[in-house]
Amino acid sequence: MFAARQAFNVAQRRAFSASSRQSSKVAVLGAAGGIGQPLSLLLKLNPRVSELALYDIRLGPGVAADVGHINTKSTVTGYDPTPSGLRDCLSGAEVVLIPAGVPRKPGMTRDDLFNTNASIVRDLAKATAEAAPNANVLIIANPVNSTVPITAEVFKARGVYNPRRLFGVTTLDVVRASRFLSQIKGSDPANESITVVGGHSGATIVPLLSQAGYELTKEQLEAYVNRVQFGGDEVVKAKDGAGSATLSMAMAGARFAESLLKAAQGEKGVVEPTFVDSPLYKSKGCDYFASNVELGPNGVEKIHEVGTITPYEQQLLDVCLGDLAKNIAKGVQFVKENP
Ligand code: NAI
Repeated sequence: MFAARQAFNVAQRRAFSASSRQSSKVAVLGAAGGIGQPLSLLLKLNPRVSELALYDIRLGPGVAADVGHINTKSTVTGYDPTPSGLRDCLSGAEVVLIPAGVPRKPGMTRDDLFNTNASIVRDLAKATAEAAPNANVLIIANPVNSTVPITAEVFKARGVYNPRRLFGVTTLDVVRASRFLSQIKGSDPANESITVVGGHSGATIVPLLSQAGYELTKEQLEAYVNRVQFGGDEVVKAKDGAGSATLSMAMAGARFAESLLKAAQGEKGVVEPTFVDSPLYKSKGCDYFASNVELGPNGVEKIHEVGTITPYEQQLLDVCLGDLAKNIAKGVQFVKENP
């Protein structure tokens, strides 16, 4: 009986130390927005998150009070834009998600958001570089192709840039790629894993269907690629001026945060597509590129190469690289001119 009791206590202690190792503070900047609210909800449901810190220029504490009533263990705190609010929100965070910024209206490209969102992301990056320089930083605010380089430049200027910890969230592109293919095949999207490389806007989004071992007719393939590249426009159009994807984006952002936490907590073989500082196409002027990336306790563990692609996919990639280089240069230039 005593031995059994002792074994139980040891098991309990082990379980406790495993869960205490798994304590993670996650901060959301822009938490009261269309993406921020459902993202905060999904993070509250994630047992890997021990502390949820929600910041916005409006309604951060309101969203926190609401989400904070959900009966999961994590603590939730909301922060207002007081001088210390942002700093306290960020301090000690292991993961920082940034969906702050304006979304598209019908007829707009993601690049049209640059003028507003570039300075929002720059300022939030400054605060993050100061209060949470070692956090994994997940950029959702568009145009991701430029806001990721903006964040990198801000961190570089403060001497705290770690290329392994900065991620552009492109998860929604692969989520759409698998969903749209399943709609053509009549299959379960959970079984459709499609690699998508490049960037996160229009022609820079390059789905590599050939690698999934599935063939479509030329017309079907072109329509499929177009739908993956411009899937976001379907939502912008349907919402008719009220914004862009928020619910599917929240799911995609929560999935990526979960993958990072899993990897940080020791799980091996965690692979997600993401837009990172990448050696793959630096020679073409693209210091950042999205491909499948293995995640580990230090962030980026291994960047997968694009692999074998068809001549058609190569054409798509060539167009992508041209656009992407310009988007990246625009972000870098912005910080040079507006430090
Ligand atoms: P929204 O307008 O509903 O929410 C944005 C939130 O950011 C608002 O609550 C606003 O108060 C807050 N905010 C603005 N400036 C801020 C600042 N300086 N500090 C803190 N918070 C600030 O917009 P939504 O729909 O949530 O979209 C947010 C961003 O995410 C947009 O740039 C959108 O283009 C982008 N997006 C990215 C996707 C991706 O796949 N990476 C997919 C869909 C949207």
